[in-house]
Amino acid sequence: MANTILVGAQWGDEGKGKIIDVLTEEADIVVRTQGGNNAGHTVHIKGQKYILHLVPSGILRKNKVCVIGNGVVVDPVSLVEEIEGLRKLGVRIDKNLYLSETAHMVLPYHRELDAQRETSKGKNKIGTTKRGIGPAYGDKAARTGLRVIDLVDPARFKSQLETRIKENNEILKAFGAQPLSFKKVHADYRAAGDYLKRFVVNTVVLLHEALRRGDDILFEGAQGTFLDIDHGTYPFVTSSNTTAGGACTGSGIPPHRMDRVVGVMKAYTTRVGEGPLPTENAEIADMLHAMGREFGATTGRPRRCGWFDSVATRHAGMVNGIDELAVTNVDGLDSVETIKVCIGYRDGAQHYDYVPNDIEALSRCQPIYAEFPGWRTPTHNARKWKDLPVRTRTYLKALAELSDAKLAIVSVGPGREQTIAV
Ligand code: GDP
Ligand code: IMO
Ligand code: MG
Repeated sequence: MANTILVGAQWGDEGKGKIIDVLTEEADIVVRTQGGNNAGHTVHIKGQKYILHLVPSGILRKNKVCVIGNGVVVDPVSLVEEIEGLRKLGVRIDKNLYLSETAHMVLPYHRELDAQRETSKGKNKIGTTKRGIGPAYGDKAARTGLRVIDLVDPARFKSQLETRIKENNEILKAFGAQPLSFKKVHADYRAAGDYLKRFVVNTVVLLHEALRRGDDILFEGAQGTFLDIDHGTYPFVTSSNTTAGGACTGSGIPPHRMDRVVGVMKAYTTRVGEGPLPTENAEIADMLHAMGREFGATTGRPRRCGWFDSVATRHAGMVNGIDELAVTNVDGLDSVETIKVCIGYRDGAQHYDYVPNDIEALSRCQPIYAEFPGWRTPTHNARKWKDLPVRTRTYLKALAELSDAKLAIVSVGPGREQTIAV
């Protein structure tokens, strides 16, 4: 299969988990390289639904190795809960999961600070998942973070945690929030450390040994291009590089060993949390929510929905170097009479065919639409390209052309089998 980076080409929740599950069949190793348990990747296998947050989605296939790389921020207590939850569902996790020594940890003060900062921002809030992601990456950049390697050294962890809790309690007090108990946090996280230590290794060495053996590695992106800390709609973004480059820094695998980039996108657009979404449309949101779709896999929040935005996906193609596209949730448009696709933005007299960096300009932008006749036929049983209605094929070919990448996979339902290779 070659070494493949999979990224979200929109605002997250594109269906990356489902496509990772499909592509894992041909991979040996699946690696998460950024983000944390703000991610929620859904995989449906034989009627069973799994939601993965920190554990790579490849864990659901037998004989595959999964790695949580150095670029991920890991809440050890949440990871233990996730592993235990998966085991209860019959998923085998032992020698098939590895956790990087140098991954930074999310600790309770990060979660508290995330919540306090959001509250204090009032109507300017980001709408974070409140998983402590921003404060944890903030500590990493400020060189005050604690890493997994510190957790598995009891004496070092105790002294570092004590210092960090003292300092963060002062900040929490300034917000008027309750200070944290060192004793409780220490006990909870030490227990998690004891549980997790069997998984902890130098993942850079492990991955390079795999490369030397000729293994195929699949890099499981989290979030999406427009949530990237550099390329997204700042400040309404997450705190990591969600674009293809993040796979290299977050794993220690150099760029020239990457063979292909797959961009996942929905046949329409969704976003959860605040920030601009030029094609947002209440009608399509109501339709999808009435179908029981588009509720967040991590927080349960209803996702904002809109028409497909090819200005955004073309930009995603550029910054990620997308070679192949996987288009998901095509069946979500089965009943729509006329489907719109955004092909440009207009802000007064100004016309854009790229996503402007000025967030205020982007918020003012009105989409310019092209229209496609809907196919108004169920597509969920299609298994081959030829099974799809002609209008669906025309629509999908247009999305690929407008996004400037090759269409490779079409998804017509959440199930593994509801996948079409193009
Ligand atoms: P991720 O974060 O990119 O992995 O995406 P999420 O799992 O958060 O959200 C995608 C949602 O779409 C999940 O509920 C998936 O089960 C579902 N899904 C993925 N592909 C398809 C599809 O082609 N059709 C339908 N109906 N659902 C899909
Ligand atoms: P997956 O991997 C969709 C959004 C949040 C918020 C912003 C910042 O499932 O696609 P954070 O908690 O990261 O500080 O929140 O980013 N966000 C996501 N939206 N899918 C995700 O992950 C997301 N992870 C974070 O809603 O707007
Ligand atoms: Mg998700």
